Amino acid sequence: MRVLVVGNGGREHALAMALRRSPRVGELFITRPNGGQAALGQAVDIAPDDVDGLVAFVRRERIDLTVVGPERPLTLGLVDALNEAGFRAFGPTARAAELEGSKAYAKAIMLRAGVPTAEHQTFEDLSEARRWVREFGRPVVVKADGLAAGKGVVLCHTVEEADVALSDMLEGGAFGQAGRRVVVEELLSGEEASFIAVCDGEHVLALASSQDHKRVGEGDTGPNTGGMGAYSPAPVVTPELERELMERVMRPVVRTMAAEGAPFLGFLYAGVMVTAEGPMVLEFNVRLGDPETQPLLTRLQTDLVDLIEATLDGRLAELELRWDPRAALCVVMASEGYPEAPRTGDVIAGLEEAASVADTVVHQAGTRLLSDGTVHTSGGRVLSVTGLGVTVAEAAGRAYEAVARIRWRGEHHRRDIGYRAIAREGQREG
Ligand code: AMP
Ligand code: GLY
Repeated sequence: MRVLVVGNGGREHALAMALRRSPRVGELFITRPNGGQAALGQAVDIAPDDVDGLVAFVRRERIDLTVVGPERPLTLGLVDALNEAGFRAFGPTARAAELEGSKAYAKAIMLRAGVPTAEHQTFEDLSEARRWVREFGRPVVVKADGLAAGKGVVLCHTVEEADVALSDMLEGGAFGQAGRRVVVEELLSGEEASFIAVCDGEHVLALASSQDHKRVGEGDTGPNTGGMGAYSPAPVVTPELERELMERVMRPVVRTMAAEGAPFLGFLYAGVMVTAEGPMVLEFNVRLGDPETQPLLTRLQTDLVDLIEATLDGRLAELELRWDPRAALCVVMASEGYPEAPRTGDVIAGLEEAASVADTVVHQAGTRLLSDGTVHTSGGRVLSVTGLGVTVAEAAGRAYEAVARIRWRGEHHRRDIGYRAIAREGQREG
């Protein structure tokens, strides 16, 4: 079949690789491919969020299946438009994608579905928001309602910090339209996990667990990023916790969305904080995580096309996923200045040397392949290296061995990806 991948980050490089592995995929097309994706399929020079352009392309090229990686085309209705034109596309409709597109909507669905989540209020008015924060009397988190590429969240330990965040968003235009409405909620503490499931509108099938590292600096310090590294499985998600998340979060949300007339098809990602009182949902994403996808798809042995077709046909109840039993760990390598002001245009060296490290794979993201064969940086998160190992520690060792061979001017990465899981493994041995 002829398949189109929409998106050109690390997640979509991993998606393109998984589709290439499928004997069912003939021709593969990729929107504005990054330096790594370029070798996997034909380049399509249409922006991932150009809905009309993509529909016209799919019609002209008779694409059998479109796989959408990022959230924006989903919230813009790419899947709706393709379905209306009579084509198959994988991902939620615009209405279902509001679970990520509006944090206020996500909260409303969570309340209706009885999902455990932090106490919150939604505001458009600054003085009302300030009053609530004072009455609430505990640290809060201020979140832009709309899409903000993982950056529209401010943790406020004091009333003064909350005042600044609120006025930045509601009056100062930080995050533009996305910040004209805010959700203010209790600041929770605990360990985070990414719990991703695939849903066919009715059935829910959990993927392996994973954990992201959102902060730019070691020991989880500094500003939030799109994600600096991830691994799978995440031992914080015990079998009991997985059962609880399926029973109290995933199935109720999918049931509620169906009852709302917006059945959810695609990958549903719950960002979870495991607190002393149990798991609490911080947010929903309506797609795979980046970088969680890199370790997840490195471990997934089930044909991705089979998974997607079972979802589109409402047959998920019959499917069982097969996983590489080993752990996978992914280290993101970023450009100088990321996340504030990433520097681009530097030549990347050492990709071939890295490729010779056994049990590792490089997924490119912010890169461009030039006609002379060199690969240059073109974004903040430039690429990621995923290693496989019997333990998370072993997977990390492999990944960092390959990371050490790749370099460009100003490159930086965290050296502690997986530290929580590795500490747990140490305890088990000791
Ligand atoms: P979100 O986009 O809602 O997942 O928020 C991004 C990040 O902000 C999360 O991964 C957490 O690290 C942090 N965060 C969000 N909500 C809360 C909360 N209620 N308490 C503490 N941290 C939070
Ligand atoms: N890694 C977090 C996200 O994809 O939103």
